[in-house]
Amino acid sequence: MKTTWDTRYSKRIDFMKESPIRKLLKFTEMEDVISFAGGLPAPKIFPCQQFDEACSKVLKEKGSIALQYGTTGGYTPLREWIAENNPIGIKVSPDNIIITSGSQQSLDMLGRVFINEGDHILVESPTYLGALQAWNAYGASYIATKIDDDGLIPEEFENSARCGPKFAYVQPNYHNPTGVSLTLERRKRILEIADHYGIPLVEDDPYGQLNFDCEPIDSLLKLDSYYRNCPGNYCGDVIYLGTFSKVLAPGMRMAYVIAPLNVINKINLAKQGADLHSATFNQVVTYEMIKDGFIDEHVQLIRRVYAQRRDIMLDALEKFMPEGCTWTHPKGGLFIWAFLPETIDTTELLAYAEKEKVAFVPGIQFFPGNHAMINAMRLNFSNASPDSIVTGVKRLVAAYNAYLEEKGDH
Ligand SMILES: Cc1ncc(COP(=O)(O)O)c(C=O)c1O
Repeated sequence: MKTTWDTRYSKRIDFMKESPIRKLLKFTEMEDVISFAGGLPAPKIFPCQQFDEACSKVLKEKGSIALQYGTTGGYTPLREWIAENNPIGIKVSPDNIIITSGSQQSLDMLGRVFINEGDHILVESPTYLGALQAWNAYGASYIATKIDDDGLIPEEFENSARCGPKFAYVQPNYHNPTGVSLTLERRKRILEIADHYGIPLVEDDPYGQLNFDCEPIDSLLKLDSYYRNCPGNYCGDVIYLGTFSKVLAPGMRMAYVIAPLNVINKINLAKQGADLHSATFNQVVTYEMIKDGFIDEHVQLIRRVYAQRRDIMLDALEKFMPEGCTWTHPKGGLFIWAFLPETIDTTELLAYAEKEKVAFVPGIQFFPGNHAMINAMRLNFSNASPDSIVTGVKRLVAAYNAYLEEKGDH
C-alpha cells in the first residue's frame, strides 16, 4: 500500500516558515553578488592556523575524550572557563552553565522549556528573526515593544510588561537588526520594571564584545547582581545567552546559556531529546583555542576590521544614498539599519537589488507585530570586503533608482 507523509505533519510545522535570510543566502552564494544580507563574520580573519593547531593537539592528546559521547551539560573545562572568564565579568558556578549548539539552539531550548501555544513573549520591535523562528514553532504570540536609538523604550516596556508576558527577550548590545544599544540608565530602568511586574528576562548577547569606539556597558545580568545585592555574582534569574559564533567562528556552533540551576536542569532535559549534547570535538577544540588568552587578541583584530568596514559603509551611505534616507550609526556589532523614504517598499526593492547583484534584508522580516516598517532594511557590514562595500552601496543606489523609475516616481 502506498503511504503518504503529506497528511501526517504535526500542527507545529504549520507555524514554521523558511527564514528569508536563509533563502537569500542561496542568491548571495552566486558569483559577483555583494551581500549585505546575512550576519556573516569576515572569513578572511577566521583563525584557521590556530584551529589547525588546536585540532591536531586535541586529536593527539585528547582524542579519546574529543571523539567520544559527552555529557549533555557540556565539556567541564569549557564550562569552568566560561564561569571564570565570561565576557560580562560575572562570577558564576559552572553548574549554572550549559553548552549549546549555537545560541540559535539556546533560543529553541527556551521555547521547548517555557512556551505553550498562545503564550505571549515580550520582544523588541524589530527583533532577531531567528528568535521568532524558534518560538513560532511552539505557537508563541508576541508583545511587540518599540525601541529607538537608545534601545528598548522603558515606558513601552512597562506597557508591555503590564500584559503579563511569560518572559521578555532583550538584546542590549548592538542589536540585530538595528545596531543600537540600550543605555545604562535604560538597562537599570528595565530591570526595575521587570522586577516590579515579575517578568523574567532573557538577555541575548552575541555582539557584546564587538564594541568599536565605546566602553562596554554592564550587561543586564551583571546589573541585576547589583540590584540584588550580590555584586558581580550570579544570583538573580536573568537568563543570559552567550556564543562563540561572532568571536571565534560560527561554523563551530558553540554557545552557552547562563541560567538558574532549576532552569539549567530543564534545558538539560530538553537538550537530551534534541541532540544528547553539543559536538564534543568542537567543545574540546574551542576550549583549546581560548584557554590561553588567544580569544582576547583575536577579538581586538575583529573589532579593528569591523570598525573599519562600518566606517566605510557609513561613508558610502553618506556619499551615495539619495536624499530622504537615514540610518543608524552603530558603535559595534555587525549591522546598520537604514530607512528609505516612506513610500519605498524594501521587499519590492530587493528584486531590483538582485538584478544589480547586491543583497540586503528587507526590514519587515524583523517585526513581530503589525507595525512593520516597509521602508527599512538591514545592512551587514562585516562580511563584504572594503572595496565591495563601496561597490555594493553604489549598486543599491542603482537598484533604488531603477525601482523609482519603474514605479513612475521620477
Ligand atoms: C541576536 C542573535 N541571537 C542569536 C544568534 C544565533 O547565533 P549562533 O550562531 O550562536 O547560533 C544570532 C546570530 O546571528 C543573533 O544575531
